[in-house]
Amino acid sequence: MTAAIIDGKAAAAALRQRIGARVGELAKQGVTPGLAVVLVGENPASQVYVRSKAKQTVEAGMRSFEHKLPADTSEQDLLALVGRLNADEAVDGILVQLPLPAQINAELVLEAIDPRKDVDGFHPVNAGRLASGAPSLVPCTPLGCLMLLRDLKGDLAGLEAVVIGRSNIVGKPMAALLTAESCTVTIAHSKTRDLPAVCRRADILVAAVGRPGMVTGDWVKPGAIVLDVGINRVSAPELGEGKTRIVGDVDFASCAAVAGAITPVPGGVGPMTIACLLANTLTAACMRRGLPKPVL
Ligand code: GUN
Repeated sequence: MTAAIIDGKAAAAALRQRIGARVGELAKQGVTPGLAVVLVGENPASQVYVRSKAKQTVEAGMRSFEHKLPADTSEQDLLALVGRLNADEAVDGILVQLPLPAQINAELVLEAIDPRKDVDGFHPVNAGRLASGAPSLVPCTPLGCLMLLRDLKGDLAGLEAVVIGRSNIVGKPMAALLTAESCTVTIAHSKTRDLPAVCRRADILVAAVGRPGMVTGDWVKPGAIVLDVGINRVSAPELGEGKTRIVGDVDFASCAAVAGAITPVPGGVGPMTIACLLANTLTAACMRRGLPKPVL
């Protein structure tokens, strides 16, 4: 079998289009959703993400507020900024870019964000709501994965899903979303025994571990859907001395020969993450005003 390649870039563009249309309708009611992004320090990868988030927010018709703070910002100053953003009526979503410098307790900062404005879905209130099946703001990467799966498959009920990785950002919320879709879900991790055999059970295999090329074709059930959440920078001497490239957690060539559908890296799950951030900002703007949750 040769897998269909899932075009995350096209899916994300289509989602942004739907978001833009809904934002246009809200504008007629005098509502413009706003997203505040906070960046502490000068991590180059974070700077790229933040720029891209701001650009896409404005393109979707929403307001973008960027707060760039020096690397030596104190925890107290960051908490004070979060407090001001919580109270700011123009701000519907707050995203504090991770990682934060060592002097700042990230958990404390994330818990200070008003759960209604928590467009990352990292606040324990939202994590708890997701786990208990209540309406919540859902972390963007797993939400993007779910949208790709629904596009591809429609009803997911009864499918075997294996999620490799148990992070709060991807693995755990992904497993909760797939459980809510009535999949039979396994969370695999570094201590899982015979990981290849566990993965071979999966109709849906999600890799979110941060290990370049770990999942190979012999781990994949023929016809399975493989979603690669990994973003790993590796050296690429074939591109020239000192060059690097981005690869996923999945060995694309060997898995594409077995899977039914597979996401590439880049251009798979990644573009959906930012589109889902915009979706969450729109959702937060509607819910905070007592408007119906947008169906995207
Ligand atoms: N850093 C890398 N990805 C993310 C993300 O999705 N949210 C936040 N807040 N920081 C990140």
